[in-house]
Amino acid sequence: MQTSANLNLMVKAARRAARSLIKDFREVENLQVSMKGAGDFVSRADTAAEAIIREELMGARPTYGWVGEESAAAAGADPTRRWLVDPLDGTTNFLHGLPHWAISIALEHKGEIVAGVVYDPVKDEMFWAEKGAGAWMNERRLRVSGRRQMIEAIFATGVPFAGRPTLPATLADLARLMPQCAGVRRWGSAALDLAYVAAGRYEGFWERGLHPWDMAAGLLLVREAGGMVAPLREGTDMLDSGAVVASNAALHETFLATIRGQ
Ligand code: IPD
Ligand code: CA
Ligand code: CA
Repeated sequence: MQTSANLNLMVKAARRAARSLIKDFREVENLQVSMKGAGDFVSRADTAAEAIIREELMGARPTYGWVGEESAAAAGADPTRRWLVDPLDGTTNFLHGLPHWAISIALEHKGEIVAGVVYDPVKDEMFWAEKGAGAWMNERRLRVSGRRQMIEAIFATGVPFAGRPTLPATLADLARLMPQCAGVRRWGSAALDLAYVAAGRYEGFWERGLHPWDMAAGLLLVREAGGMVAPLREGTDMLDSGAVVASNAALHETFLATIRGQ
């Protein structure tokens, strides 16, 4: 599979950051942790990983803009391109020694995500996609699941924690959805949730209160794997609103209507 120079660069940056994160993950008990708002932890590992990715990407493409979770955003000399980076998605899992977290890197061009990488170093699963070139996990092409029955379907979400205001809406979603489906998972990494929809592991995913860096790469993975993505509230922008619904094609209409309460 021929990949672009930008995609190769993103993969290289993710692998470099992963080496640093894996080392810290093994010593997770010794990590110095600081609070960054209610229930939202940022670790030394997180900041170091972002610095590695920033150095790698901005070193090679100094004119692109930068939006990362852990460092200041920067407009680039080229206003049409920017990186969207979450150096560690699933921070709470990481801090608890749970092996389910990832690095997420996306490239946006003229307002559209054109390349995305979600890397799970613990399982050595490199999910990647380029616009028009499909979605892949390592060497394997990804397709969303073909399940057509809600009662056989598994969905994933993030349940708001630490007093987040979206809890009642999410509980209402669960009350509508759970009687109709085979189960709901809450694994704590939105980037991996989207990658798993692309890989056909879950039929769908929805969440409120996300940031652009949580979902940018994952949304492209789902689309390129033949799935569908939509804003949770009709007419809003997914990256701006932070509320998204993604699924395989077969169940999209039904799942979206359930989540929208229609
Ligand atoms: C979080 C994860 C989690 C989601 C949260 C995000 P972080 O990102 O994606 O699954 O439920 O809303 O903030 O803080 O681990 O980078
Ligand atoms: Ca995140
Ligand atoms: Ca993060």
